[in-house]
Amino acid sequence: MADLSTVFTGIRFENPFLLASAPPTESDANILRAYEAGWGGVVTKTIGLHPVANVRGPKTKFLRVDNGGSRLSMAKRPDSTLMASWNWELISDKPLDWWIPRLEAVKKAFPDRVLVASIMAGSGSDKELENWQVLTRAVQDAGVDAVELNFSCPHMDRVDMGSNIGKDKVLCSISTQAVKEVARIPVWVKLTPASADISEEAGATFLGGADAISSSNTFPSLPLVDPSTAEFEVNVNGFVASGGMGGPAILPLSLAKMAQLTQSFPDREFSGVGGIASFDQALSYFMLGCGTVQVATAAMLDHAIGPNVIRALTDGMTAFLERNAERGWTSLEDFRGLLRERIVSHSQIARPDASDYRGGYEEESEGYATEPLTV
Ligand SMILES: Cc1cc2nc3c(=O)[nH]c(=O)nc-3n(C[C@H](O)[C@H](O)[C@H](O)COP(=O)(O)O)c2cc1C
Repeated sequence: MADLSTVFTGIRFENPFLLASAPPTESDANILRAYEAGWGGVVTKTIGLHPVANVRGPKTKFLRVDNGGSRLSMAKRPDSTLMASWNWELISDKPLDWWIPRLEAVKKAFPDRVLVASIMAGSGSDKELENWQVLTRAVQDAGVDAVELNFSCPHMDRVDMGSNIGKDKVLCSISTQAVKEVARIPVWVKLTPASADISEEAGATFLGGADAISSSNTFPSLPLVDPSTAEFEVNVNGFVASGGMGGPAILPLSLAKMAQLTQSFPDREFSGVGGIASFDQALSYFMLGCGTVQVATAAMLDHAIGPNVIRALTDGMTAFLERNAERGWTSLEDFRGLLRERIVSHSQIARPDASDYRGGYEEESEGYATEPLTV
């Protein structure tokens, strides 16, 4: 019998599929609809303490490619296929006081579904580190099951906030530690993919006490120039800022980040995010070792909270387990991480015949190094 339930950071999930922190989880009304549709859990839209004012006009657009053609554009049109989402939406514009009674009510209505609060503060002063603690205490007293620290919002001007924390391992460590000092619930940390080696920041985050890492947030990107106007497809008075890309295009990119994480920390817990719309894509994250996965873009495009997406995910996982019943697979734990060690260095991939390749190093001969020199 296929069993979709799982335990992640000590929390039981009816299924391993969550709505990621994004518009689908921006209100209690949306979250209640999401649970009714069957999502195992949700991560709320990120909650902060600083005032938030979004730009005029669209905060999210969808980049599509013509079927059988080469035009890439955000213009909504028939006979085209979704490639990516692009957004410059900030965190929740609702204050903490707005969220608290709503989190309490949601948890009361669905005590068995998982409610994770995404939170964000700065990291450049004791006051900011206290802000992390204020947020953590408030949401945990409201009854949420876990917090997810947003070290990955790509839209911050402040050098000590959002993805600027996620690019700095010292800030990763001390901000996590500040939260752990007051947290009685598991602490997940969402890291940015915009760093050279994400396992460096992950290591620091685990040192700070994190229970799990979520990856990826959106990748820094720009809208394209519209050839008919010679202006950016999204702009305010002609100006645009770097925004974040999500959706199908980031799936392979996010998987590469996840592989770095799960290989570096095989005994730790990870939540996979980026480009998931059906079980086929979720499977790639599970095979790398993820214990849950999260969805944003696909859910936004499916009645705002993804009723068909969650059905496709649970039906797909049930069918997958049934197809593999003869291997003895009945739950996620039976196949989780099976391909994690199959990602190797290039020179470890078999060559035709007996030809030899040394990964760019010299052939072994007198006077030449065969390994990188360490001094
Ligand atoms: C419009 C929009 C708003 C988002 N807001 C947040 C946010 O407030 N906090 C956060 O951690 N991630 C936020 N994200 C990132 C998503 O949670 C997710 O990491 C990213 O979109 C990749 O997943 P996807 O390919 O399923 O969209 C947002 C994404 C979108 C598209």
